[in-house]
Amino acid sequence: MGYDFSGKRVAVLGAGKMGGILLKALLEKGLLSRASTCATVAHEERAAALAQKLGIPVSTDNLAAVKNADIVFVCVKPQVVQEVMEQIRPNVSRSQIIISVAASVATSQIEKALATEVAVIRAMPNTPCVLGVGMTALCKGKFASPQQVEAASALFHVVGRTVVVDEKHMDAVTGLSASGPAYIYIILESLAEAGVKVGLPRDIATLLAAQTTLGAATVVLETGDHPALLKDAVTTPAGCTVDGIMELEEGKLRVTLIKAVVKATQRAKELAFG
Ligand SMILES: NC(=O)c1ccc[n+]([C@@H]2O[C@H](COP(=O)([O-])OP(=O)(O)OC[C@H]3O[C@@H](n4cnc5c(N)ncnc54)[C@H](OP(=O)(O)O)[C@@H]3O)[C@@H](O)[C@H]2O)c1
Repeated sequence: MGYDFSGKRVAVLGAGKMGGILLKALLEKGLLSRASTCATVAHEERAAALAQKLGIPVSTDNLAAVKNADIVFVCVKPQVVQEVMEQIRPNVSRSQIIISVAASVATSQIEKALATEVAVIRAMPNTPCVLGVGMTALCKGKFASPQQVEAASALFHVVGRTVVVDEKHMDAVTGLSASGPAYIYIILESLAEAGVKVGLPRDIATLLAAQTTLGAATVVLETGDHPALLKDAVTTPAGCTVDGIMELEEGKLRVTLIKAVVKATQRAKELAFG
């Protein structure tokens, strides 16, 4: 994507789990420089510890952090976004890009709270970003240009894959790829437990389950083949796999996963902060 972020001043408001993952990756990969990056948290003692750990200024002063920043990441909890936007409003200008990762908070709400025609981009990453294998969906607010969305995508590209969607899809993204790692961990844990049940040592069972999940996902991503076709290729007539699949069907795995994503999506809509 070839964006040059050197010299860009960046403020990360709310350097908790997700803000911390992004900060660490962007600094380590050299996309952002320590000299022009700062962050905030809620507690003074966390600020001091984080400043030491990351080697950048970390404070509890959102207004000061945003002053002269080119890019502002909003990584606080959704319930706190309105309050933080009101705090920073005096130092927000049209030349900045605001990138929010807060679930359920619409770009229009941020634009309204900032009362400035500023570029707002909403992003929904997931926790595998910590190892650079994340999935982030992004959408643009009213005043953001396609180029600014591309620049924001380039930042998230450092921690995994990215996709640009219409904002109407962001709650669905939250229910699928942001919550998704939790579903997959449960599936992995269950497969490993099953391995133990049929006599495998737990560490080997976990390795088999995790690498099989990674392998299957990689094949889907690399070939673009429909998962049903790939499943058919594993399923020999009158073989073992079809017996396993029958159990999955009887246990309603498919419909349960569909319902999980639907519920999480509904919850993301309910959480919308006006
Ligand atoms: N975790 C995920 O999988 C995930 C995925 C996608 C999107 N998100 C979004 O990421 C955001 C953060 O989630 P998280 O899981 O990273 O939560 P988190 O670990 O609790 O981080 C929130 C951070 O915000 C700081 N904070 C609270 N009030 C603040 C204020 N007024 N000013 C500045 N900083 C403040 C907290 O400071 P202290 O450390 O001092 O308490 C903490 O560092 C949420 O909006 C969530 O929807 C999370």
